[in-house]
Amino acid sequence: NAIYLKDYQQPDYWIEHTELTFELSDDHTLVTARLDIVRNSQRPASGCLTLQGQELELLSVALDGNELSVGEYQQDDESLTLQGLAERHQLTIRNRIYPQHNTALEGLYQSGNMYCTQCEAEGFRRITYYLDRPDVMSVFTTHVIADGERYPVLLSNGNPVAEQQLPDGRKKSSWHDPHKKPAYLFALVAGDLQVKQDTFTTMSGRQVTLKIFVEPQNIDKTDYALDALKRSMKWDEQSYGREYDLDIFMIVAVDDFNMGAMENKGLNIFNSSCVLANPATATDAAYQRIEAIVAHEYFHNWSGNRVTCRDWFQLSLKEGFTVFRDASFSADMNSATVKRIEDARLMRTVQFAEDAGPMAHPVQPDSFIEISNFYTVTIYEKGSEVVGMQRKILGAEGFRNGADLYFDRHDGQAVTIYDFTKAMEDANGVDLTLFKRWYKQAGTPQIQVSSDYDQARQQLQLTLTQRCPDTPGQSDKLPMWIPVQLGLLDSQGQDMAIQVEPASAWTAASQVLHLTEAEQTFVFHGVTERPVISFLRDFSAPVKVEFEQSRDELLFLLQHDSDGFNRWDAGQRLMLGWINDAMAGQFALDEAAVSVFRALLRDASLDPAMVTYLLSLPSEAYIAEFSADIDPQAIHQARQQVREALAAALTSEMAATYQRLQSDQPYAPQPQQMSARALKNLALGYWASQSAEGLQQAQQQFAAADNMTDQMAALQALIHSGERSLAQHYLDRFYQQWHNDVLVVNQWLSVQAGSAELASVEFVESLLQHEAFDWRNPNKVRAVIGAFAGQALCHFHATDGQGYRLLADAVIRLNGSNPQIAARLLGPLTKWKRLVPQYGGLMKAELQRIMAQPDLSKDVYEVVSKSLV
Ligand code: ARG
Ligand code: ZN
Repeated sequence: NAIYLKDYQQPDYWIEHTELTFELSDDHTLVTARLDIVRNSQRPASGCLTLQGQELELLSVALDGNELSVGEYQQDDESLTLQGLAERHQLTIRNRIYPQHNTALEGLYQSGNMYCTQCEAEGFRRITYYLDRPDVMSVFTTHVIADGERYPVLLSNGNPVAEQQLPDGRKKSSWHDPHKKPAYLFALVAGDLQVKQDTFTTMSGRQVTLKIFVEPQNIDKTDYALDALKRSMKWDEQSYGREYDLDIFMIVAVDDFNMGAMENKGLNIFNSSCVLANPATATDAAYQRIEAIVAHEYFHNWSGNRVTCRDWFQLSLKEGFTVFRDASFSADMNSATVKRIEDARLMRTVQFAEDAGPMAHPVQPDSFIEISNFYTVTIYEKGSEVVGMQRKILGAEGFRNGADLYFDRHDGQAVTIYDFTKAMEDANGVDLTLFKRWYKQAGTPQIQVSSDYDQARQQLQLTLTQRCPDTPGQSDKLPMWIPVQLGLLDSQGQDMAIQVEPASAWTAASQVLHLTEAEQTFVFHGVTERPVISFLRDFSAPVKVEFEQSRDELLFLLQHDSDGFNRWDAGQRLMLGWINDAMAGQFALDEAAVSVFRALLRDASLDPAMVTYLLSLPSEAYIAEFSADIDPQAIHQARQQVREALAAALTSEMAATYQRLQSDQPYAPQPQQMSARALKNLALGYWASQSAEGLQQAQQQFAAADNMTDQMAALQALIHSGERSLAQHYLDRFYQQWHNDVLVVNQWLSVQAGSAELASVEFVESLLQHEAFDWRNPNKVRAVIGAFAGQALCHFHATDGQGYRLLADAVIRLNGSNPQIAARLLGPLTKWKRLVPQYGGLMKAELQRIMAQPDLSKDVYEVVSKSLV
């Protein structure tokens, strides 16, 4: 039941025009599809057309206006087949669907009082019979008919063309999208929605109407997304020369959504948690997420919609590139260094773990059972890193030329990842053959570094070896082309001039050393003193590095490196060393390090957000990724011990930092303010864990806060202080204050379920019984189950296995109602082989229990069966 890339073939027919009519009623929805089909001249004339369809009630099929009798077509659970077709036909299909019973949230479904759609990847086949594959691009016209009182807003892709009141009280809205597109970009919305509106003038002077539609209670949460949208539109013009191409751009917020958001042409649909914000209810982190996701979906208009994917094995063509584009945007809007740190943390925890587990797959996979399982950190984030490496190799200008050529050459086409690299090659006259291995080989390459300095010759020899571990279905990997950005620091902490042999291995403009073989030695000349090496600056490649550097060298880099990313990395390596010491029972905080951290806290010339990251210990998941055999309880204990020691050593400095960063400016979700709040609240957390005074301050901040960032930070400080009844008091107050706001309540669920102090298995079970919880809503499932298994690791990995049981029960429960969410929750259990056997065995047993369930969805089956191999 797996599908293979090597089996790709073009379809026998294309669909030139698609005209859809939806009649929405409480009982069912009637869909009429009129498809203008034309034979694909590239294929043998089979006369055969097989359309995909799932859970559809077929009413009639007509060919060129003549209704077919039942014997004239074949139908099964997943398809409808016609034979003996000629060159061109008009095919008209009528079918019924039942959105009110759609709990999988794929296709057309109801969320609250509205109707909405999610068609990527293969949801359109739950709306009508169609060639539901991305290489079939069609011009769509859509009519939506519904009760005018209850559904005054009726939306679809493209530009609005007509609106009329029907004599029976229903309303009909018609839309036309002139840009041909695959069915996965189709969208429909119906509801009683309010709209926030604005305009944007494009670089060629066209006026575009911008609209954000929300349920009435959320109309005061739309300003920021609208602002982020306008900034995204401007940025894409300036950075990529890409202009918007319809008269209107719409965003709709819905509460029930499997993912973050969806880039449907002209009509983006968003999970409400990724678009709605006001200062009182959204944290700075939420604002930043909204900015990034609004940009991401907008950028898809070119990288994804105008140029789309030939098949789903090319998913990273649009996702990797679009993540790269949104990351560059966020870096430009905020601190580039901080954004890089955040992205590297995500790669090193979640993506490296995926690449080392049973679901490891290349950025361009060879096969899948269920494509929904491949919306992964590998496709998205590693895909983005692979695009970013091409920019490091080609330089900013060369990369831009390649992107321009890609968009020009392939506008209106459905293409492959290699069409992207080909454009990069052709625009720059380079050969990326070797580089393309990044797309085909799964697993995280590991670089080993050894250096030898010769004072007499003023030479540094650097020997690098690379290897990439075996992954499912792939062994004996070939060396990759790894761009290693690096610097050499002199004893003053200044960057030395670099001169390398062979010269062809060094690109001076980007300070990149090109590692292309399994083992290579590079000679640096004119190195007048023994340097401190700053290796893999800016996280220039998604690799692991084994490089022995002394704690003195790490401290030196932490203080002096001109590369902000490597300053942070040196600090993390130092802290990982402490945590390893603690695990070995021999940890002592050394005064030299403490005084460096103290100085960083005091250094007002540094970006406070940067200091926040420098002072944050690696997370338990991060530590686990740097361990050979993962012992989650040992990691938790060791990290707590180090955190305690650091907090104790820095208490007065933290109190002072907190006081210094207090501000009476009114809240704004603006970079400098967010940065200052981040450090202020980090300081509060450390301070409150150490002293009654700090705890007092947290309570005061909770009560006085006029914004969610400060209120939530205070609540978290109270939870982490370990004063359980005090924490419970404030949790209750918080719920009292916010129980009417769904998104805030979800944050409330999540801080509890993800907390080491609270989230015992029994406690999480009580959250599942709470009135605020609902199994049908993916955000709530993620807030409780996702946070528990992803963050409260000391409870999830309870030694009696009850945490695993809780997760497996949730998967079994959701398998039937929402398979995508069920499969996604499984992530933590799939890592069982990396843990010490005491835990791994219990995890495996839960996977086996799931495997033995009847009626497993494809989604869950794929993840569980691959994990048990
Ligand atoms: N294309 C969307 C995005 O990245 C994600 C949609 C994925 N949906 C799904 N059901 N797998 O912006
Ligand atoms: Zn995307």
